[in-house]
Amino acid sequence: MLSLVRSIPDQLEHNWKQSASVIKEISKSTPAQIAICGMGGSGISGDLIRGLLLYSSSVPLEVVKDYSLPTWIRKDAFAVVISYSGNTEETLSLWDECSKMQIPRLALSSGGRLTERALSEGVAVIKIPPGYPPRASIGYLFSACLRLVHHWGLYPDADKELFAATALIRSRIEEWCKEASALASSLKGRFPLIHSLDVRFAPLAYRMVCELNENAKELAHFHTYSEMNHNELNGFEGGVDENAVIVILDAGKDFTHPRNQRRAEIIEEALPRVPRYKIKAEGETLLERMLSLLIKGDLVSVYLAEFKGIDPEPVNMIENLKRELG
Ligand code: PA5
Repeated sequence: MLSLVRSIPDQLEHNWKQSASVIKEISKSTPAQIAICGMGGSGISGDLIRGLLLYSSSVPLEVVKDYSLPTWIRKDAFAVVISYSGNTEETLSLWDECSKMQIPRLALSSGGRLTERALSEGVAVIKIPPGYPPRASIGYLFSACLRLVHHWGLYPDADKELFAATALIRSRIEEWCKEASALASSLKGRFPLIHSLDVRFAPLAYRMVCELNENAKELAHFHTYSEMNHNELNGFEGGVDENAVIVILDAGKDFTHPRNQRRAEIIEEALPRVPRYKIKAEGETLLERMLSLLIKGDLVSVYLAEFKGIDPEPVNMIENLKRELG
């Protein structure tokens, strides 16, 4: 799994190039709405895109993670339907709804029933290389989504920023591995509360939780700073479980509302008994900052699995449930 995390920059670049010919065929006119449909390690790319576009795009974007589309999604939306395996039932159900409503769409998958349905309905598929745990194919899935929103002009500097990000990751990865390994050793036997200082980076906090769940087989929890100041904060009044630890995802001054920085300073003093660690985003641009946090969080989960002496790849409980559901 470590080598898969380290391969994310290659995945990002590979699919940026590979997806170009398919995306070129999609209408250039910006859709009225965007729905990105997918579960778990597939759907997270939608969350990242939503965070990336939150303060720059005027197109409503919904990340759909269940069986049904919200009622307000209309025929003039564009749907990106993502399932690495191609066999996830919620995602297939969303596909079928899109088909019924004749919503223009694109499938991202390594195969399975999603690919079969797309091909039989004449819908474009971006084929993702097989053999990965779905969550470890995030570079492929995310860069195809990024290329699509770039195609519509919604993230105009995506190409420059993506290649700057992959260069940054490659130049810093050894250092990040050391950092992540140190943090993972501090998280062993703990319950991490992962806080994102900025709402655009909340998907990175969520990704870190998912990676801790699936790779390290650990429970974890995430919150966004501003919102958590209106609920979770008060939970500390009842006393803190001695295993709790706070991990703050710090996007940096230019990417965090000054009032959220101030909130963090006040809380830093108000909660002196809870061990706290910070993971700092790196790079100049929003995309670099997001991808640096992605890699750092993924690495922590893999090192934690290693310290626990467990294999990060199998997700037996998820697979058993899928089998039971038939
Ligand atoms: O990473 C994982 O293994 C899971 O979170 C899967 O992504 C999730 O179960 C959905 O499966 P798929 O990505 O194949 O649609």
